[in-house]
Amino acid sequence: MPATEILIPEADIQSRLTELAAEINAVQPDGPVHVVMILKGAIIFGVDLARALERNTTLGFLTASSYGEGTQSTGRVEIDARHLGDIEGRNVLLIDDILDTGHTFSKTLDILGDKRPATLRTCVLMDKPERREVDIHADHVGFTIENHFVVGYGLDCDEAYRTLPDIRIYAPE
Ligand code: PRP
Repeated sequence: MPATEILIPEADIQSRLTELAAEINAVQPDGPVHVVMILKGAIIFGVDLARALERNTTLGFLTASSYGEGTQSTGRVEIDARHLGDIEGRNVLLIDDILDTGHTFSKTLDILGDKRPATLRTCVLMDKPERREVDIHADHVGFTIENHFVVGYGLDCDEAYRTLPDIRIYAPE
């Protein structure tokens, strides 16, 4: 397997997850939270974080696709919001695995904002600020990382490695 160098060990992810849940609960309004994950990459982090919140949550899903088959962002983002759920007047927490160029998050936030949630907060597991092409940030960030192509814990390379328990640097053979 080419992706062998561990960047963020499983234990570090799990302990940061607990901290993030506390950070979010400290600022999130009381009551139910509608947790929206951007598929596919956010699925594992999103489910783990939603459970760590230990509050009344409902789940919604968006599908975003921007990378195509390779390791470079194209800047083109396609969003499918059919499984988002009704968010008008609700407290929404948007979760993604990684904030890279920012195109996906930017387009997603536009779509969610148009649907008039009561509040809209954002959380990403990883942030790669040096890759940013859109002026955008997340309210809660698990780890700020350098410009590595990373896989594992939901992130893929051509659909492989998503179920790894840790984050690894992808290094082609
Ligand atoms: C990845 C990742 C983010 C997005 C970030 O998704 O999961 O959603 O790219 O990139 P950006 O900030 O440059 O827009 P991808 O399109 O690879 O789909 P996937 O989640 O199904 O792997």
